[in-house]
Amino acid sequence: MQNGIQDLLGVAIPAIALGVAAIILMVQRELGPFSRLSTGGKWLLTGAFGMGILAFAVKISVAVAVTRMPVPVSAASPPLEAPSAVAQQVWAYQPDAPQKYVWQALPQMAPEPPDNPATPEKIALGKRLFFDKALSADGQLSCASCHDLYGKAGGDGRRTARGIAGQIGGRNAPTVWNAAFQSQLFWDGRAASLEEQAQGPILNPLEMGMPSAAAVEAVIRKNPLYQQAFAQVFGAEQPITLARIAAAIAAYERTLITPDAPYDRFVRGDRQALNPQQLRGMARFESVGCVTCHKGPNFSDASLVGGQIPRRIFPALPTAFEKRFDLTPDGRGGGVERGAWRIPSLRNVALTGPYFHNGAVEKLSDAVRIMAGAQLGTRIGAAPQSGELYWSSRARVLNRVESRTLNEQDVDDIVAFLQALSSDTLASHAGKSGA
Ligand code: HEC
Ligand code: HEC
Repeated sequence: MQNGIQDLLGVAIPAIALGVAAIILMVQRELGPFSRLSTGGKWLLTGAFGMGILAFAVKISVAVAVTRMPVPVSAASPPLEAPSAVAQQVWAYQPDAPQKYVWQALPQMAPEPPDNPATPEKIALGKRLFFDKALSADGQLSCASCHDLYGKAGGDGRRTARGIAGQIGGRNAPTVWNAAFQSQLFWDGRAASLEEQAQGPILNPLEMGMPSAAAVEAVIRKNPLYQQAFAQVFGAEQPITLARIAAAIAAYERTLITPDAPYDRFVRGDRQALNPQQLRGMARFESVGCVTCHKGPNFSDASLVGGQIPRRIFPALPTAFEKRFDLTPDGRGGGVERGAWRIPSLRNVALTGPYFHNGAVEKLSDAVRIMAGAQLGTRIGAAPQSGELYWSSRARVLNRVESRTLNEQDVDDIVAFLQALSSDTLASHAGKSGA
């Protein structure tokens, strides 16, 4: 930039001086005597023509300034204007005017649909149903059997779920905590609300295995406690239906949210809530691109607030992990290869392994490596440390150069950050089954 202005002035000043000299000569020597102007008149005319020159000079300067930018930095100056061709393959650098990611804490309340407003009685009824094994065909399973709220942070800790009569399902049981913030439920996003979702497992032959909605309704209707509670919540004249059972469960599930993670405390202003490693991981989580999909307060673009692309192809890019963890086929059958999967929330993820739709990955660090490779095309290797700075003179922006390659330290840092997404309450209970 400095060089640019100097060059420009070097051309512009002599040009203007020459132009003005020419005008003076012309008016005083040629035009003045010819039109018999007085001295004052001659200078007035000179001034008038001079303005033209000045305006022309300004136009030229602007044109030159525009064409000369960006100005090359001399070879001797160390900070890069832009990384070299080779460096560009290795380094991802933020564009000139970086759109910084804005971090959000989880709201203290989940949004609720207008047609299913919660009341304390409805929530209590939903809670009773959530823990009631009568909703399963053999009376052995409740929602809580596969969604152990405290012992397993809302999942079951198994690779894939175990339904009635010990049947092994094809998919991992995701946590119910914060599901209230998702606009699509299930791994493939096939349910649009908790109300819709809750009817699924009750009738799923591999899960609670009830034969029909009528059978479920009959079981609940038999129980005088439920008769009373449903009458109180939905009105005495309203029959007990599977839809109302699901509505009550959904209202209860909307209370299952965890705005009490260290991350939330940090975003709300407690600067001590994250340790330096977690902060490094947070920066890396953003710079490497995890926030493209795991964004917003619930770390999922499939969350209710502001989601755009709720599902993504996974694995999007081929990696060696695919074979090792059998990632492509869908355990549920149907031969889906490289399916489009709902982006899961990463809240409490450190407590809810094993990971992915097929539950094939035990370690969170492996899940991070897989995501980096399969979703972002990022290599894991002995990368140079990130952190080099570069000054973009054009935008006058100081950017931090981030390595495109994650090294093992980066993976550990991201895992540490993900641990900061664990609710304090759930973390203190984790592992104590049934607690
Ligand atoms: C046999 C174990 C099992 C039982 C019992 C069970 N679930 Fe699930 N739950 C699962 C599995 C497995 C999935 C994922 C299935 C899929 O994606 O296809 C799931 C998914 C969910 C989800 C979606 C979470 C998300 O992030 O998408 C919610 C909510 C949920 N279950 C609530 C319930 C409720 C409410 C009940 C009781 C009515 C229940 N579950 C009973 C295993 C179970
Ligand atoms: C292009 C979108 C996309 C990007 C980018 C992305 N993810 Fe994911 N992530 C997904 C999808 C989709 C799934 C669900 C995959 C499945 O169904 O098995 C997922 C699953 C996960 C899981 C497993 C969650 C669970 O409960 O099993 C973790 C952990 C995770 N991502 C972390 C990350 C990290 C860390 C990054 C950055 C390195 C990242 N993701 C980048 C889309 C993405």
